[in-house]
Amino acid sequence: MRLIILGGPGSGKGTQLRRLSQSLQLTGLSVGDVLRDAIAHSTRLGLQAAPYVSKGELVPDEIMIQFMRLRLLQEDVSQGWVMEGYPRTAFQAEELDFVLSDFGQYLTKAIYLEVSEEVMRSRSQKRSRPDDTPEILNLRIKRFKERTIPILEYYGRRDTLVIIDANQPPEAVQAEILQKIKKTGFLQ
Ligand code: AP5
Repeated sequence: MRLIILGGPGSGKGTQLRRLSQSLQLTGLSVGDVLRDAIAHSTRLGLQAAPYVSKGELVPDEIMIQFMRLRLLQEDVSQGWVMEGYPRTAFQAEELDFVLSDFGQYLTKAIYLEVSEEVMRSRSQKRSRPDDTPEILNLRIKRFKERTIPILEYYGRRDTLVIIDANQPPEAVQAEILQKIKKTGFLQ
């Protein structure tokens, strides 16, 4: 099974990634965490990504696509995965499909965690990450609307999209995701 979790800042992608990777026994990949870790360790990827992440801008597609192509070749994801933070642009979504088809694989479902902008702000403000300041958060929300919302249509056309009411508590969000995936016949 290969699942992606989509949603704006603070929609609960990281939270549901941890829950789903545990309950479905899938490798969990958080692209935002990978970038933050790379920045903290000043790796090549981290040095390339830092100027963008620190401002709330998206890291350029070429950098992300090259990195993800290599990441998805690793052994720990060969049997399936659940991923959040990628894709975030139409170009990344198309590239992910190309990569998967090169490996003879396909995406099982794209899970969209729908929350109001108010919820995005209030949840993010409760954390104290360097990219959670009001100005940077405004830009992350703006980029989410401009670049990520359009890919919902991409997955909708492929009949891959599952929309979840993510304004609920984490356990209710998880239950709705599992119930909707089961309905499609991908889970027992
Ligand atoms: P990233 O870290 O992925 O940031 P984000 O998408 O803005 O998401 P967040 O981490 O803010 O929120 P989340 O949805 O994971 O929510 P969480 O579970 O933590 O990316 C950071 C940056 O990296 C980007 O800005 C960009 O620069 C770059 N980047 C990353 N991927 C990229 C890509 N593909 N291309 C280009 N650039 C890229 O929850 C938030 C809070 O709410 C927590 O405190 C949690 O406890 C709480 N919470 C969660 N769920 C609930 C709930 N149901 N009810 C109540 N509280 C909840």
